[in-house]
Amino acid sequence: MKVGLVGCGTVAGYGHLPAIKSIKELELIALSDINEMRLKEYGERFGVKGLFTDYRDMLDSVELDLVTVSTSLNAHYEVVMECAKKGINVFCEKPLAENAEKGWQMVNAMKSAGKIFAVNFENRAKPYMRRIKNIIRSQELGRPMMMRFIYNWAGGRWAGKDRYERLMKEGMGPIVDCGVHYFDLVRWLSEDEFDTITADGIFMEGYENPDHAVALCRLKSGTLVVIDASWVYTHNSKDGTYLLRIDIECEKGIISYQMGPAPREVEFKYYGPNETIVEKSEEEEKPFITMYNDIIRSIKEGKLVDELASGEDGIKATEYAIMALEDALKKKRL
Ligand SMILES: NC(=O)c1ccc[n+]([C@@H]2O[C@H](COP(=O)([O-])OP(=O)(O)OC[C@H]3O[C@@H](n4cnc5c(N)ncnc54)[C@H](O)[C@@H]3O)[C@@H](O)[C@H]2O)c1
Repeated sequence: MKVGLVGCGTVAGYGHLPAIKSIKELELIALSDINEMRLKEYGERFGVKGLFTDYRDMLDSVELDLVTVSTSLNAHYEVVMECAKKGINVFCEKPLAENAEKGWQMVNAMKSAGKIFAVNFENRAKPYMRRIKNIIRSQELGRPMMMRFIYNWAGGRWAGKDRYERLMKEGMGPIVDCGVHYFDLVRWLSEDEFDTITADGIFMEGYENPDHAVALCRLKSGTLVVIDASWVYTHNSKDGTYLLRIDIECEKGIISYQMGPAPREVEFKYYGPNETIVEKSEEEEKPFITMYNDIIRSIKEGKLVDELASGEDGIKATEYAIMALEDALKKKRL
């Protein structure tokens, strides 16, 4: 399958492109970026000759089976709409779009094109997350009553102030840029939908959007959800750090997953009526190879495989994350 990628940035460099190159069935033949220097650098690094500063030229002149869209958020819409016009399968980065209207247009255009449209919610492909989903689905712990997610990161400050400011503004800060992963995980793990979403925020460094926000939500079945996302603490610690913590409190027991703080090992705990499991393992890598293999399978079968997030999943999680941001902004104290 011939693959092209638009947006030769951070996530393309450490995630998408190494994964695509490592899979025999995929042939990386074209790259696009508006930044000519970066395009050239990635062309050399990943051995690609088809280099385009305008993604439309790439789509016009190269036959592609799959396009990965890993541009900054503000370009997702135009690239996906153009791929839909050309009838090309798409794997798009999160958040899907800057607002629900554009997101649904993308979903509908890809649906009319009859092509695969997957969104990168990579947590769904992590072995521990798949294990937690199976536990919830089996109902061995009964119904989840409370799902709590804490994501504490430095917002990629090491890449410079410009990038951080872009993530705070265009990326809409931690509750959307990172929080969207957890709004998706809640839907995927619970197989339920959000009913109410409220949120409040802290504006530690004076940006327009909160640099720490906490959403308190309820699902249609009654389950409570807390999503707590921040970028303003870990960089102040001596060794810098990172924390992802998930607690699922069910009628008959608790599942707990924690990655970090440094060293970034994973701790998985299961307290059920019949057994207790405590496991420690190394940090889970982002599972890009698993996702590309799922995409290959989807293209072959002509329908998105269950393990992948669809365009609808992409926009629903984005809408919920934006609702949380908007509620936090309403309560902003000057
Ligand atoms: N799923 C994940 O784990 C994960 C991790 C990081 C970033 N992301 C997402 O991936 C996307 C990219 O993030 P990043 O951190 O790599 O950003 P980045 O700023 O490092 O890279 C984005 C690249 O897109 C290019 N670009 C912008 N507009 C373009 C256009 N019209 N045509 C071609 N190229 C264009 C930029 O020049 C830049 O090189 C964002 O949506 C982000 O939220 C996802």
